[in-house]
Amino acid sequence: MADGVFEPRRIIVTGGCGFIGSNFTRWVVESTDCDVVVLDKLTYAGNPENIAGLPDDRVRLVVGDICDADLLDELMPEADAVVHFAAESHNDNSIAGPEPFLRTNVEGTYRLLEACRRHGKRLHHVSTDEVYGDLALDDPARFTEETPYRPSSPYSSTKAASDMLVRAWHRTYRVPATISNCSNNYGPCQHVEKFIPRQVTNLIDGVRPKLYGDGMNVRDWIHAEDHSSAVWAILTRGRVGETYLIGADGERSNIDVLREVLRAFGRDEGDFDWVRDRPGHDRRYAIDSSKLRAELGWRPRHTDFAEGLAEVIEWYRDNEAWWRPAKGATEAKYRAQGQ
Ligand code: NAD
Ligand code: DAU
Repeated sequence: MADGVFEPRRIIVTGGCGFIGSNFTRWVVESTDCDVVVLDKLTYAGNPENIAGLPDDRVRLVVGDICDADLLDELMPEADAVVHFAAESHNDNSIAGPEPFLRTNVEGTYRLLEACRRHGKRLHHVSTDEVYGDLALDDPARFTEETPYRPSSPYSSTKAASDMLVRAWHRTYRVPATISNCSNNYGPCQHVEKFIPRQVTNLIDGVRPKLYGDGMNVRDWIHAEDHSSAVWAILTRGRVGETYLIGADGERSNIDVLREVLRAFGRDEGDFDWVRDRPGHDRRYAIDSSKLRAELGWRPRHTDFAEGLAEVIEWYRDNEAWWRPAKGATEAKYRAQGQ
């Protein structure tokens, strides 16, 4: 059972100009009375447009680095909690250049924990199912909160390190913290480097989609809005010191997702290119979210993947001005990697 209800009046959302952080910020403003201070460094992945149109008296953007301890000291007094999304988030980038991942994902989480400790504030740490490594395609098991950590990529190993720091700061210094580990998100405002937006924008551009390896790798898809409602449930009603897995029973192979996208564009199912596989490519992720559902009564709203995907495709068709500036450089980077 939950300890009781925590009712923050203002939260700091790190990485609130990124894909999931901005979806969460919008969800909080539309679904609660809580105000938001977005702290975002605006890296290549951060775009203030993602929170444009939200009321100024509810949302304030502070452009800055989570590694900046002085800035954190300035911001902490006005908030009741920190919800920590900021990260370097893309596996392929972490393979090409791991250093920023260590700095933001590990040092950044450490700086936030220290700031929460100094100011006695609560932290919700947003993490990934990738900390558990991967499962075989024919394994009946899914990840649970008890699955041992076995990260494969530079990205997932830095997220695993950040989770360990949060657990240690809770146990040693009693920092009131919760952790969530979520599966692959889809939704509006996702960077064109990621699988679904890359293929959708390729098709809009008349370019053939690109599939890694044999295309049989499985990801467990969840809509970003459902991730947001789950994070809010954990922040406000979850037990301090606990970890919750977030997932919506959305396992699908990459080739099936791609075929669905191709169908939506009226294209032949075989109309794509096989490209070089990702080194160390995790085979399958699958989440058992029973704890979150049983303890907090959380349920996903987006249970029809085809419908959610169609809405996302529509969003990219309607928002070319949003993604176009990033498309050329992203594809040039992939081309140089043979992907
Ligand atoms: P994203 O790459 O779209 O956004 C990251 C945001 O963090 C950007 O706005 C960026 O400017 C900001 N940022 C980066 N470094 C920063 C720093 N040093 N200081 C302040 N801001 C900084 O990422 P996303 O896909 O929205 O992922 C958000 C979080 O959710 C990450 O922690 C990620 O590990 C986790 N997660 C993502 C997924 C997914 O499917 N994308 C699934 C599970 C968990
Ligand atoms: O599981 C949660 C994780 O999901 C998050 O922690 C990460 O931040 C997020 O980026 C995502 O990681 P993945 O590596 O699974 O996502 P990505 O979109 O990069 O790739 C999804 C799958 O599609 C993966 O198996 C690789 C494959 N792929 C990807 C691209 C970009 C392709 O086949 N072709 C592509 O062009």
